[in-house]
Amino acid sequence: MNMVDIILKKREGEKLSPQEIQHFINGYTKGDIPDYQASALLMAIYFQGMDKEETYQLTKAMKESGDVVDLSAISGIKVDKHSTGGVGDKTTLVVGPLAAACGVPVAKMSGRGLGFTGGTVDKMESIPGFRTTLEEEEFMELVNRVGLSVIGQTAHIAPADKKLYALRDVTATVDNLSLITASIMSKKLASGSDAIVLDVKCGNGAFMENLEEAVELAKGMVDIGNADGKKTIAVITDMNQPLGHAVGNSNEVIEAIETLKGKGPVDITQLALTLSGIMIYAGGHAETMEEGMEKAKEALHSGRALEKLASFIEGQGGDPAVVEDYSLFPQPTTYQKVLAQESGYVTEIQARSIGLASQHSGAGREKKEDPIDLSAGIILRKKVGDVVAKGDVLAEVSGRDSLKVRLAAEEAAKAFTIGPAAPELGPIIIRIID
Ligand code: URA
Repeated sequence: MNMVDIILKKREGEKLSPQEIQHFINGYTKGDIPDYQASALLMAIYFQGMDKEETYQLTKAMKESGDVVDLSAISGIKVDKHSTGGVGDKTTLVVGPLAAACGVPVAKMSGRGLGFTGGTVDKMESIPGFRTTLEEEEFMELVNRVGLSVIGQTAHIAPADKKLYALRDVTATVDNLSLITASIMSKKLASGSDAIVLDVKCGNGAFMENLEEAVELAKGMVDIGNADGKKTIAVITDMNQPLGHAVGNSNEVIEAIETLKGKGPVDITQLALTLSGIMIYAGGHAETMEEGMEKAKEALHSGRALEKLASFIEGQGGDPAVVEDYSLFPQPTTYQKVLAQESGYVTEIQARSIGLASQHSGAGREKKEDPIDLSAGIILRKKVGDVVAKGDVLAEVSGRDSLKVRLAAEEAAKAFTIGPAAPELGPIIIRIID
């Protein structure tokens, strides 16, 4: 098989065979196919697209490029949750304990933050002592004992995606439905859970800015998950402003704890109850999604989910006292307020700009190997729809580097739009696709 013929075929809009897709993925993962040929094929796919069957074969080949985790030592139906990436998205830290408190084993592999989106692994590491690298047996033992464990994704899971994602990032080929589907689903299918709940973000802080594309992405991923024998359900959710008020690492974990105490922002609470309710249903602990959501509510209001969070933190070597004492988190030393320049209503908060401002305050990294300031980030004091008077605090930026914090505050200020009329607010849960 010849790579030039494969590129030519796709360039002319023809369908690739499973063997051709496999040849590309295997050869590229091993280093036999150079970046320039892989880039040309990615661009041909970008313009000509792939049909359902090709996308499935691409996902399968990428999944099989590395280890497929065997979670059979964990009893029960294991349910995974994945978000397509957002700003202020700390839902895993709320959803994991809620689902686990209702009997769903959650064995989750998460990523680090890159660019404007954060990563659960970084957030968890702001808890003193918390380990995100565990041996396989320890990981499974923890899920069996506590019901929940979250570790960093190893390099052996879908290595083809790791290489291809880096290439897509520098060849303007990220935002293609088939490529996003294969990238996300290859990792999820290799991670070993029996069922998958997907949070597909839609809006100005997401890959999918409009609903039609988000629905198409969600349907494609659900079809592939189900075709692979995993019950897969997608929820399309709003990402037109950051989720909740906190964006960063320590501050997001604190907001997740507050949510589990029943004192969290409405958007995160609703989203977490919906996602965990669907996980409870997918895990066979409720007859319907609605019943799953009722069970999740009970776990929240009774405090059982908060107790589960503390056990999970302790199980991974972290100090569970953080749940009551937030001074144990890394503390910022410098603060900057963002003030409203006029009176009116907050009509827009560009999620992507807030994500970038948080990254630049020290909370995120430009390159994979950059260190991060776990104390840094942004607290939004106003959200879309709030009334503001000139001089009101819109947001507070904090961290340990005063120059970074000042520059980040200037960037954060540009994310807000204030207008004379109250904006229409859409729901956080847009659609469920199963
Ligand atoms: N998240 C992924 O893992 N891959 C993509 O292509 C987009 C979002």
